[in-house]
Amino acid sequence: MNSGSHFGCCNVTSKFATLALFYQHNINHTTRLGIWRIEEPEAFFLEKVPIKKEVTHPYKRLQHLAGRYLLPTLFDDFPLEEIMVADTRKPYLPGEKYHFSVSHSGNFAAAIASRDKRVGLDIELVSPRIEKIAHKFLSLEEKAFLQQWRLFDLLQQELTTVMWSSKEALFKWYGDGQVDFRQHMQLNGPLNYASNEWMTLPFLFKKEEAVPVTLHARIFEPLVLAYVIT
Ligand SMILES: CC(C)(COP(=O)(O)OP(=O)(O)OC[C@H]1O[C@@H](n2cnc3c(N)ncnc32)[C@H](O)[C@@H]1OP(=O)(O)O)[C@@H](O)C(=O)NCCC(=O)NCCS
Repeated sequence: MNSGSHFGCCNVTSKFATLALFYQHNINHTTRLGIWRIEEPEAFFLEKVPIKKEVTHPYKRLQHLAGRYLLPTLFDDFPLEEIMVADTRKPYLPGEKYHFSVSHSGNFAAAIASRDKRVGLDIELVSPRIEKIAHKFLSLEEKAFLQQWRLFDLLQQELTTVMWSSKEALFKWYGDGQVDFRQHMQLNGPLNYASNEWMTLPFLFKKEEAVPVTLHARIFEPLVLAYVIT
């Protein structure tokens, strides 16, 4: 695996400015992910992105456009105009030239695209609010596991957000909806915590049969990113 490049790895020139990706990680020769810090006006993204979806809220539209814009930034032959959206709201390419997944949080957008693997990705800004909703997505065992970091407020928030983001990434990877975050997705062993490095989290996805899946996550202050690739 290649390690990623941070802050301004890839310059993109347009009539607006010379802009840069916040982060890019070429996972292997067929799969890449990137994070974009949104600082451009809508018109910048509209140069490349055909908008098909009705997104009325201006900021959500900007996030949507930035997420789509990232896809051909990762692979320049990504056919943006062919994207369809399933009844579950999962976007996909009918010919599966690429599998992909998109996420936004605050002024960040992230995307992963793969020529041959199923993927799911999520980003979340870290906030103390995560503690208030943790009971909705953590099993009792997961809650107990996270208690070991309770003396370190920020770290506990970050790791709880990593768990949330991991489950959202799994939800997108699965793509068919109807998933109970506490029952159908469970941490299945210790995570190897490391600051500023990729962590791996062994999960069991138990919707139909129990499938072991490895989540990859990383804390980028102020956000966390999680992805799955199978
Ligand atoms: C769909 C969902 C995962 C989106 O997550 P979010 O944090 O709100 O938003 P994100 O920015 O991370 O992701 C949005 C993107 O996900 C993608 N997406 C939407 N629905 C999807 C689905 N069913 N499968 C895969 N990807 C999906 C889209 O690309 C969308 O962006 P776009 O419309 O601009 O293309 C989320 O709204 C959801 O439904 N989660 C499950 C809720 C749940 O069951 N919770 C229970 C525990 S509390």
